[in-house]
Amino acid sequence: IRVPADKSITHRAVLFGGIAHGESRLRNPLRGEDCLRSVDVLQHMGVRIEDRGKEFVIHGRGLHGLREPGNVLDCGNSGTTARLTCGLLSGQDFFSVLTGDDSLRNRPMARVTEPLRSMGARFMGRDGGRKLPLAIRGGGLKALDYVLPVASAQVKTAVLLAGLNAEGETTVTEPEKSRDHTERMLRAMGAAIREDGLSVTVQGGTGLNGLDLTVPGDFSSAAFFLVAATLVPGSELTIENVGVNPSRTGLLELLREMGASVRLENERQVSGEPVADLFVSHSPLSGIAISGAQVVRAIDEFPILCVAASMATGETQISGAAELRVKESDRIATMVSGLRAMGVEAEERPDGMQILGRQNLSAGSFQSHGDHRVAMSMSVAGLCARGTSIIEGTECVATSFPGFWDLLRSVQRNSA
Ligand code: S3P
Repeated sequence: IRVPADKSITHRAVLFGGIAHGESRLRNPLRGEDCLRSVDVLQHMGVRIEDRGKEFVIHGRGLHGLREPGNVLDCGNSGTTARLTCGLLSGQDFFSVLTGDDSLRNRPMARVTEPLRSMGARFMGRDGGRKLPLAIRGGGLKALDYVLPVASAQVKTAVLLAGLNAEGETTVTEPEKSRDHTERMLRAMGAAIREDGLSVTVQGGTGLNGLDLTVPGDFSSAAFFLVAATLVPGSELTIENVGVNPSRTGLLELLREMGASVRLENERQVSGEPVADLFVSHSPLSGIAISGAQVVRAIDEFPILCVAASMATGETQISGAAELRVKESDRIATMVSGLRAMGVEAEERPDGMQILGRQNLSAGSFQSHGDHRVAMSMSVAGLCARGTSIIEGTECVATSFPGFWDLLRSVQRNSA
């Protein structure tokens, strides 16, 4: 099978392409609702983006070429659109307002507005500028040396984007290395960027060249099928053309530690990102302890990892993962309640959870809580349960994985 294109890379290519000088070509973009929010936001600022079927062509307007939007910019469910756009708008000498859906309006924004304010951008918003809707007046930025309290690729990227428009050198230092698509892409676009361990520095004022990029399949989407094939007896599955950037593939190591069998084949580089075909077959799993440093490289995969843990022998302990509470839903609470409804003994912890695997899950009815990854994870849990499970609120799956249900049906049919 193949899974849809990478969400993080598509967002970045669209947003960075919008402030590049000249044309960018983006082959195999993700047309999930989240990425279409980034497209829409840029179009409202005067960027022409052509959808030519297999590719997007983005007519960049340069670092200072965006136009004041005539209306509120709606980021929908997408935290990446909202936070990266805050960075982009901080460098623009005009007024704009960002909002989003019910989930996004409750997610923390101070993590971006605080460093961007100290660069000189002005934000007004709910809760003192901690929540959307946010009004932004950008321009006149000075460089910043910023140490992130929590590893976050979105915050890192927002500050670096603002740094492109600031006077001097802006440095961002993380406690652990988060996904590095921004660093790779900005370098490919000719930005003056350097990395030194956990720090990244950009020189303000140097423009970006257009980009020519092919987006690989999203490892975070492949994750649901990696776990499904691991859990369902008799399965063998090859997932072709998946991005395997090491800052994203923590789940592979965790699953292998639990006993899974996943092989990388045909490893290659595509547009500056490592790509491979993943071959996975059914294996019994054992519980493990997961903490701190392992968390950031698997941050979006915890919902599906919880399902793997619920089918493993023994206990799985997750700690150092408080960030899960501020994702599209509180993923510690939503996954614990979903798994409990299947008869699994699971307990919340402030920064993680404890799951006692039980192999025989009970079918039932579950809520997605509007969270795409929870909906897809609970559907994989449903595959493992005896009887029919119902997952309510599945529209959200379209934010990251158009075609998920058809693909899931197709692998079941092949095995019949
Ligand atoms: C993302 C970064 C991560 C991740 C999110 C996508 C990105 O969030 O959870 O789904 O594309 O930069 P944080 O930056 O909050 O860690």
